[in-house]
Amino acid sequence: MRLPVPGSLRLRFLLAVTLWVMLGITAIWFSAIGIFSRHVEQSYHEELAVHVRELGGLTEITPDGTIMLTRPLSDPRYDVPLSGFYWQVTAAGRTPLRSGSMTRGSLDESMAHSSEILHRLESGPSGPAITYGFARKGPAGEDIHFVIATDQSELDRLIGNFTRDLTAWLAALAALLLATGYAIISFGLKPLDRLSLAFSRMRRGETDKLEGHYPSEIAPLAADLNAYICQNEAMVARARVQAGNLAHSLRTPLAIITDEAERLATRDQCRAAGAVLLDQAAAMEQQINYQLARARSSAGRSPSGCGVVLPDVAIPILRAMERLHPDKQFILETAGCKRMVLPLDPVDYAEVLSILLDNAGKWARCTVTLTFTCDRVGGGTAQIADDGPGIPDHLIETACTVGTRFDPDAAGSGLGLAIAQDLCAAMSAQLRLTNGSPGLIATLRYDPGDTDGA
Ligand SMILES: Nc1ncnc2c1ncn2[C@@H]1O[C@H](COP(=O)(O)OP(=O)(O)OP(=O)(O)O)[C@@H](O)[C@H]1O
Ligand SMILES: [Mg+2]
Repeated sequence: MRLPVPGSLRLRFLLAVTLWVMLGITAIWFSAIGIFSRHVEQSYHEELAVHVRELGGLTEITPDGTIMLTRPLSDPRYDVPLSGFYWQVTAAGRTPLRSGSMTRGSLDESMAHSSEILHRLESGPSGPAITYGFARKGPAGEDIHFVIATDQSELDRLIGNFTRDLTAWLAALAALLLATGYAIISFGLKPLDRLSLAFSRMRRGETDKLEGHYPSEIAPLAADLNAYICQNEAMVARARVQAGNLAHSLRTPLAIITDEAERLATRDQCRAAGAVLLDQAAAMEQQINYQLARARSSAGRSPSGCGVVLPDVAIPILRAMERLHPDKQFILETAGCKRMVLPLDPVDYAEVLSILLDNAGKWARCTVTLTFTCDRVGGGTAQIADDGPGIPDHLIETACTVGTRFDPDAAGSGLGLAIAQDLCAAMSAQLRLTNGSPGLIATLRYDPGDTDGA
């Protein structure tokens, strides 16, 4: 069973079931003890009343005035010393008769003053006792007092035993109810677990939609999500194509404007205006090239890949780089990354790697090192380090801006890093440039924790 996390539906259900079971069990515990105590007390009192009546029936006063019983009481506990069961018969001017159990003390005869059976709590020979008694006239018209008593602790012991047994039984019942309750919750939430698993697989790029069959309450949600995902992918693809088309359609008018601006710049009276127009046209061309490059990079891709497999994704890119920069050495280091899958678009990831490796190959003196490191929580880092001149520290921040080139004599359009940055943002990955000693270190990091909350 999965452990409930704070704020989860599972935790809510578990708390509700626990509270419900606890309330029910506590209510049963209190009411069962109350009902049992009432019944036990009642039958105890009835039994004592019977015993005191039996005592009255068995008592005789002999002609010499001795009090005696015609036979012992039917309950043998009255003969066991200090058993907690006592009787006593007293009359004025006669020797009192007491049960064999009463080896010390006496019972208070004053409560046995009426012919009706009365009872109260008295202190008996072995602690507080429930006392029953009545009085009857003797042969000489004197009052004979019949008193019978049972220790309160006897009643308490009976109720205590019952309470102990009941508590153990109810605790077992509570454990059983909680276990079945938790099992029912797990069973009921299984479809949601499957949905979340299907979602994770889709985010890892293993599937392109939510797969699986769901109960009727969740099935519409899964279907709506699938429809939304398809719609969204189609919309993004359409938008990219449209941006590419727009950029493309601006090229010819821009070429005409540039041509006109160049002609203006050759005339003395409008040289300044021509220069401004040329500047602006160059900026526009950069943007157009950038959009076309972005559209090209996303064209022809399947809506969702099967994730980025490290380090395999880099092998064909490194091969291409070795052909592109034959005088540079490319080294691949894969510390602990054995077919690790990152839930990212492989085309975008490969494009970012190509841009960074191409830059490193262009600027390296002789060696470019690509190092992959993976962690246990599903994160992965690609580090591209070269032994070139690096970028001055105060300019490194601006390197990813469209059109930035620090060495205008070198070939390039200044779009690579801007596109890489853009793709990283879309993949929820981070791109960081730092200077090493020597050269530039580009770090491409993906951390699943950064996207979970998104
Ligand atoms: N590894 C590197 N070492 C030194 N300078 C670099 C490195 N990578 C990038 N730069 C600097 O950053 C600038 C921007 O790089 P970016 O990749 O965006 O454009 P580019 O390489 O000039 O052109 P392209 O669009 O063809 O990639 C480069 O012109 C270069 O001056
Ligand atoms: Mg570049």
